[in-house]
Formats: sequence, C-alpha cells, structure tokens
Amino acid sequence: MATEILVTGGAGFIGSNFIHYLRRTHPEWRITNLDKLTYAGNLENLEGVEGEPGYRFVHGDIGDEKTVAPLVAEADLIVNFAAETHVDRSIRNAGEFILTDVYGTFVLLEAFRANRRARSFVQISTDEVYGEVSTGSSKETDPLMPRNPYSASKAGADRLAYSYFATYGLPVVVTRASNNYGPRQYPEKVIPLFITNALEDRPVPLYGDGLQVRDWIHVDDHCSAIDLLLSRGTPGETYNVGGGCEVTNLDLTKRILDLVGKPASLIQSVTDRPGHDRRYSLDTTKLRGLGWMPERRFDEGLADTVAWYRAHPSWWQRIKANDPGYRTFYREHYGQEPSASASGT
Ligand code: NAD
Ligand code: DAU
Repeated sequence: MATEILVTGGAGFIGSNFIHYLRRTHPEWRITNLDKLTYAGNLENLEGVEGEPGYRFVHGDIGDEKTVAPLVAEADLIVNFAAETHVDRSIRNAGEFILTDVYGTFVLLEAFRANRRARSFVQISTDEVYGEVSTGSSKETDPLMPRNPYSASKAGADRLAYSYFATYGLPVVVTRASNNYGPRQYPEKVIPLFITNALEDRPVPLYGDGLQVRDWIHVDDHCSAIDLLLSRGTPGETYNVGGGCEVTNLDLTKRILDLVGKPASLIQSVTDRPGHDRRYSLDTTKLRGLGWMPERRFDEGLADTVAWYRAHPSWWQRIKANDPGYRTFYREHYGQEPSASASGT
C-alpha cells in the first residue's frame, strides 16, 4: 500500500515546496494537501502537481474538525505547515494567529488522538519561539521566550504538540526552522518584498538600523530535514533546522540590490518593528547527528531566488497589483502606496 501523507498549508511557500520535493523524492506517495487558501495560499504554487495521480487538494480549515477527522484517519504521515505566518500582521491583529496556529493545531492533534493510524506527526514550529538570542545559538533544550504574537502562538502550538506525545503517547516530532528563502514566498516577507520592489525600482523599507541578524536556510534544505525526520525523528523530540548562515538585514539588502542590479539609494530606513528580535541563531548539532546537512550555499540560493522572481513576474505582480489584502496591508503598515494597481485603484 502506498504511503498516504497529509500536508496542511501546502498551498503556501514552504508547504508547496515540500509537495514538489516529495514528488521528486517519493513519487509513489499519495499526497493530500489541506489548505484554507488564505491570502498566502495560492494554487499556482502547485502547478505541475495539480491533476496528477497521487495528489489531491482539499479546500478547508485545519480548525474544522469535520474536515480534518476523515483526512487524519486515512493518513500514515502528517505534516502541519498551516499557519498565519507574518510577524508584522500578528502585531497589527493577532486573532487569526491564535485561531489557526494554536486552535487549528489542537483540532488536528485531537483528530490524531481519536484515530492513531499515522506513524508520525511533524509539527512545523519556528526558531522564533526561543526569542532573541544575544550570544551563542539556541539548543532544543533552551527555554522558550517568544516576544511577538506570531511567535507566542507558534510556541503554544509547539508545546501543545509535544503534550500529545507526553500525555497520550502520540508519535509527534517538532521542528524549529530558521528563516526560509526560495521560490514562491509571498512578497510580504523581506526577501521577496525587497527583490520585487527592487525589480520595480521602488524603495526597499529596511526596519531600524538594519543590523538585526537572521539565520537563512534554503527551503529545499528545510524540506530534506522534514523528510528525514518523518522516518528518523524520535517521537517526542524537537529538532532545530537552521542554515548556519547568519546575515544582517542590511547586508542581505545590499546583496539583493547587487543581484537585481539596482543602487543602494533604494534603501529606505523606516520605523523599526515593535519588539523586533535582534538576532536568531540555531544550534543544529542534534539534526546533523542524524546525517542531515544543508546543501544550498546562500550566495547561490539567493541568486537562484532572484532569478526565479525575475522569471515569474506574473506570479508576484498579480499579488502586488490585484490582491486587496496585500495592498491594504502595505498602505497601513508602510504608510506608502504599493506598486501600481492593475485596475488603477
Ligand atoms: P505561508 O504563509 O506562505 O503559508 C501558509 C499556508 O497555510 C497558506 O497556504 C495558507 O492558505 C494556509 N493556511 C493558513 N491558515 C490555514 C487554516 N486555518 N487551515 C488550513 N490552511 C491554512 O507560510 P510559510 O512561510 O510557508 O510557513 C509554513 C509553516 O512553516 C508555518 O507553520 C510557519 O510558522 C513555519 N515556518 C516558516 C518559516 C519561514 O521562514 N517562512 C520558518 C520557520 C517556520
Ligand atoms: O525565523 C523564522 C521566521 O522567519 C518564521 O517563523 C516566520 O514565519 C517568517 O515570516 C520569518 O519571520 P521574520 O520576521 O524573521 O521574517 P520577515 O521576512 O518578516 O523579516 C525578516 C527580517 O527583515 C526581520 O528582521 C525584519 C526585517 N524586515 C522585514 C520586512 C518585511 C525589514 O527590515 N523590512 C521589511 O519590510
């Protein structure tokens, strides 16, 4: 019998890359993608997979137990990517983050408790649960100190997932990844936002002094880690998934502008994010002990990412010009007009 895998949030950035990754690495697996198609979900991300045998899309909410229960009941493996994911949106309005990231995860876990068929449930958490790290690197055993509503909701889901192992003996594994980059990332996140603004000769809004540090990992390296943990992760354990590539936002911005071929004068210093975590850094010794290594070098991966956005203007121009949610958020958040609208509004 072919392995049945339930992927939630598979129309988003990492989830869709993970589905493409699975099609390459486990073509015999049968994939169900459960996604609510929020502003961040996009079925174009599944081009080449949609309509193929062994792939099924279900439009629904992880917080809806009637939708979730039958899907969990037929899954051998479950990976929960579905979440509200943008820190700046969580600072403006945290409600949806609590509903999806915490309550939605609870509904999935409850469905798993009711039907224990799956041999592994991977909860996709984030390095943000550790809070900012002034020196050294976070180990899985470090205390959690989330400092914004997004990371607090993810920390809730992270420990809730663990509790279903500790309390009910369910085979749950938690991953905490650092900042992902690569193709198909919604252009509100810093790398696609800055690439696409630069391609349009628009300013790139750098928060504060730009000396905050993020640890970048190519999305394919994150996918290979999840794939490994589905078979080799120890139930109840948490694994950091980091690229080991720490870069300041200012340095990142200059690299992007160089790759796009635009001047540093596009950098616009804007008001800092409230409670902006200064640095994240992950110790990945535990995952490397299972034989995992990140394979993508940041300079090459970033160049490929710029090339992808250059080659797919209709993918991001549709969002930036036509998505009312994107345009309203941009105006409210940056106090500036987003790129020209297709409809002239
Ligand atoms: P994304 O915002 O690009 O995609 C999220 C997807 O989840 C979308 O397709 C959306 O429609 C779907 N979704 C949202 N609410 C849902 C609901 N209630 N039911 C079903 N589907 C729903 O996010 P991403 O960047 O791909 O992140 C995926 C996961 O990885 C998240 O759990 C995030 O916290 C985690 N993560 C992301 C990063 C990163 O750098 N992007 C790093 C570490 C961890
Ligand atoms: O660390 C993992 C996390 O990475 C994930 O859990 C989140 O889902 C994901 O969104 C990401 O969070 P960040 O807040 O780090 O990502 P973002 O792309 O929003 O910002 C990256 C850095 O760039 C951060 O220090 C803030 C800064 N930034 C961001 C934006 C959008 C700017 O300077 N200007 C901007 O306009």
